[in-house]
Amino acid sequence: MKQQRHEAFLMCPPAHFEVSYVINPWMEGNVAHADLSLAQRQWRALRDGLAQVAQVREMPAAAGVPDMVFTANGGLVLEDAVVLSRFRHVERQDEEPRFKAWFESQGLRVLSMPAHIPFEGAGDALLDRQAELLWMGYGHRTDVRAAPLIAGWLEIEVQSLQLVDPRFYHLDTCFCPLAGGYLMYYPAAFDAASQKAIAARVPEHRRIVVGEEDALAFACNTVNSAGHVFLNRASPALRARLEQAGFEVHETPLSEFMKAGGAAKCLTLKLTEPRRRAANAPM
Ligand code: ARG
Repeated sequence: MKQQRHEAFLMCPPAHFEVSYVINPWMEGNVAHADLSLAQRQWRALRDGLAQVAQVREMPAAAGVPDMVFTANGGLVLEDAVVLSRFRHVERQDEEPRFKAWFESQGLRVLSMPAHIPFEGAGDALLDRQAELLWMGYGHRTDVRAAPLIAGWLEIEVQSLQLVDPRFYHLDTCFCPLAGGYLMYYPAAFDAASQKAIAARVPEHRRIVVGEEDALAFACNTVNSAGHVFLNRASPALRARLEQAGFEVHETPLSEFMKAGGAAKCLTLKLTEPRRRAANAPM
């Protein structure tokens, strides 16, 4: 693997990870069923793999917030600003001040949602990798009213997408913008209007459509750094499609985190998010 450490990702070690409540369908039947030492090995394998191609920063773990390993849900970063999450479920709300403190320690400008508008960070808000565009999911966790607020604060166009399958309750469980303008996604997780909106914005040859089996293996929950993608598992067909698009595919099993409803992408938050238009702007 080539060393390309210009991108940075935030991770939180699973020192206190467990499934101790049920706030999504994946957690049902899994309370107290995650193997902590296996989870820690799986997490380290992801971290070490990602650290080969990007910078990984770690925030301190804390007892009593077992889902804080899913740093994607801490907020949405764009340049030097971060929109802090407001968790829908009380079980995760104690993570908010911890993420806030970490973001502030990094000198990020922290923007906060009004108290009555749930927003679950980069779980439901994904920057396109080609266009100056923010894709936002709603329907399970993030409130649809978060979209216009964020569009105004960050001065970015937002495309809202309605999520309709409770198994794919965050946008990043079924949708992944990739380098080069590719988009990997599971269409059935979206309502018809959202499927149309996606098709209108992303040309067919850039759409990587994932079937149900790959989607249920959390293939769309992919960490992308430059030409590398890290995911729990990909079928041979999906792997071939990704390779054909120019990506090096790294499978990194994350069974214990899937019991909590998350995989590779959920365990990371991208901290280096330049604006697309700045990159193309004339000097
Ligand atoms: N148990 C966590 C929850 O339900 C899992 C979060 C997964 N994160 C993600 N970005 N999809 O909130």
